[in-house]
Amino acid sequence: PDDDRSQCDNSSEMTFVRLLSPRVNDVPTSEYDHAAHCMIYCRTNKAWFGNTIKANIMMQFRFDGCIGFPGGAVEANETIVMGLNRELQEEIALNLDKYSIKDSDHLVSHIYKERNFVLHFFIKSVTEEDFNEIQAAGLTSEFYGTEVMGTVIPPLFTMSNGISGLPNFLANMFIGNAKQQLLYALESCEILSKTEINEAVMKSKIIKK
Ligand code: GTP
Ligand code: MN
Ligand code: MN
Ligand code: MN
Ligand code: MN
Ligand code: MN
Repeated sequence: PDDDRSQCDNSSEMTFVRLLSPRVNDVPTSEYDHAAHCMIYCRTNKAWFGNTIKANIMMQFRFDGCIGFPGGAVEANETIVMGLNRELQEEIALNLDKYSIKDSDHLVSHIYKERNFVLHFFIKSVTEEDFNEIQAAGLTSEFYGTEVMGTVIPPLFTMSNGISGLPNFLANMFIGNAKQQLLYALESCEILSKTEINEAVMKSKIIKK
């Protein structure tokens, strides 16, 4: 099981189990529903008022008022990446000729026991130029303004007051274990250190109270 840091604040009733050495197609499809989401991101040297931006990550503000990653439920006739690519086309109008997601982009999967759901998480690193192109295309997607209410780039810095930036961002409501996925990716892609992540999570919990 994951450590406390990765638990969702809005989901005390949820239990997520990380699949060890997960392979995308290991889980028997019949017993579980599957969903797949993707973190599209670029590294950047941008800075803003002395804050290092480090990376731009594409998240979204959803119809239900929560923040999550683009992606969605895999349908019965689809493989996981087929479902993911279809959802990315629907939600952010991703140009699949150029940016389609592959099995090798898989990072981690979690079992969401209460709902018999397996949540697969993929990451795709692109150039800053491509990131901007992907974002702009998102505004033209079929579900923009209905299912997807906006693109969100998490601030990864913490400002000198100790809460502005990432801690405030983490105090939002997240869907499923999207927050856990974000933190897991930040660490495994070495965008932030474990210490930086733990500190931001700790501060976000103080804000929430
Ligand atoms: P519908 O077609 O309306 O079902 O939407 P969808 O196919 O786009 O599905 P959605 O993206 O809502 O994902 C399905 C389920 O996966 C959700 O009910 C959540 O429990 C979960 N989920 C949604 N977004 C995320 C996310 O970013 N991360 C994780 N881990 N789970 C998510
Ligand atoms: Mn301004
Ligand atoms: Mn969708
Ligand atoms: Mn979705
Ligand atoms: Mn769907
Ligand atoms: Mn849908």
